[in-house]
Amino acid sequence: MLEQVLQTIEAGRQQSLAGLTQLLSIPSVSAKPEHKPDMQRCAQWLAAQFAHAGLDAQVMPTAGHPMVLAKNQHQAGRATVLLYGHYDVQPVEPLDQWTTPPFAPTIRNGAIYARGAADDKGQVWAHIQAIAAWHAHGGLPVNITALIEGEEEIGSENLETFVRQHQDDLHADIAVISDTNQFAKGIPAITYGLRGLVYMEVKLTGADHDLHSGLYGGVAPNPANELCKLLATLHEHHGRVNIPGFYDAVEPVTPPERGEWSKLPFDEKALLAELNAPALSGEAGYTAIEREWARPTLDINGLTSGYQGPGAKTIIPATASAKVSMRLVPHQDPLKIREAFTQTLQDRCPKNIKLEITCHSHCGPVLVPRAGRAMQLATEAVETGFAAKPTLMRGGGSIPVVSLIKSVLGIDTLLVGCGLPDDRVHSPNEKFDLEALHSGTRTVAVLYQKLAQLKG
Ligand code: BES
Ligand code: MN
Ligand code: MN
Repeated sequence: MLEQVLQTIEAGRQQSLAGLTQLLSIPSVSAKPEHKPDMQRCAQWLAAQFAHAGLDAQVMPTAGHPMVLAKNQHQAGRATVLLYGHYDVQPVEPLDQWTTPPFAPTIRNGAIYARGAADDKGQVWAHIQAIAAWHAHGGLPVNITALIEGEEEIGSENLETFVRQHQDDLHADIAVISDTNQFAKGIPAITYGLRGLVYMEVKLTGADHDLHSGLYGGVAPNPANELCKLLATLHEHHGRVNIPGFYDAVEPVTPPERGEWSKLPFDEKALLAELNAPALSGEAGYTAIEREWARPTLDINGLTSGYQGPGAKTIIPATASAKVSMRLVPHQDPLKIREAFTQTLQDRCPKNIKLEITCHSHCGPVLVPRAGRAMQLATEAVETGFAAKPTLMRGGGSIPVVSLIKSVLGIDTLLVGCGLPDDRVHSPNEKFDLEALHSGTRTVAVLYQKLAQLKG
């Protein structure tokens, strides 16, 4: 049967691309209130596609953007797979840097260019195509529950409530997520670790209105000056984060992992070329792979204050604010890190300035088992799908649902993603490689068959 399913996938490549083009044309930017109707439309569109692939699908409201929940007819005694993905995408700015518009999907150089192409619509689409191919040959060999979220890119705020409310409905033997990368083109991967995230916003206020910088300079407090000083205290030399307690729970990179990673064909030159930057940066004493996969970081994500228009305007700004995120590694606790960050800024902020700190989102780091039956089956599926052995890797990004699936449902997750490291996710000109789409679709079609072996 698998042979026929793979043939159906092969024969349907053009049609698959046409479907993905439709999906990528919907501007489902979760962060922007003006896209609320598009979020609804995207959820409806996906539910219709799941239904077309033989599943019972519904769009379920939350306090934020809706979830898509789809299931086949569950049969007792069969293995159950929980598929998670997200249909929301990151904002597209700066728009003028896109070669073709972000929601007018365009094919060039063997890839499809659009916001969300790799993250995560293209990878969700691979699953829908695989499920549809099985449907054409009598249906999937496993029970499936698909949960496609609309708020992943804004921190999955309403996910925990949803998962707790539908705990019984979501119960499964294993979870599968395709929202990560291959190691490189031609080197598929299974990801076994992700970093966590704490995303904060800091706002400093001096006077209650902007002031003439000649009449008040040297007299009134300047929140822009103070914000720069404050933020500059957050790193030491050599790239370490300077927050008391920040490294307390950090699990050191183990010698076996270091050894393994040092043998991976990491191409620093290619990375520099991709960035078009003169040199890399980061914490001293660790390789680039170690810094991305297993070391915590703190980064300013946005900085706002004062006059930003053309020419000069002589003012002391009334406010200055920064968005600051921290990537966490096992076993840092997001709540403790949030507390340490807040305490540190309060201690260091001068008393003539008003300080406000808010947390936008937080999620824990994850490590999933590298050994075990499910991992073995996933490895075999990738081998068939890509005709190459997968590399075991970690990823620097975060997927909040993974730790939730473990803590609330008690289930491990297989991270079988097929993006490429240079897909420019979250950046202008995001793309998804067409070979990755095809090999990824094949892989997950095989995976559904393999996972049937978890039962019986
Ligand atoms: N798919 C990414 C995360 C990712 C990408 C992990 C590549 C590993 C390899 C996901 O959509 C993402 O961007 N997550 C956010 C989470 C945040 C908004 C809570 C992130 O990592 O910034
Ligand atoms: Mn994603
Ligand atoms: Mn993302």
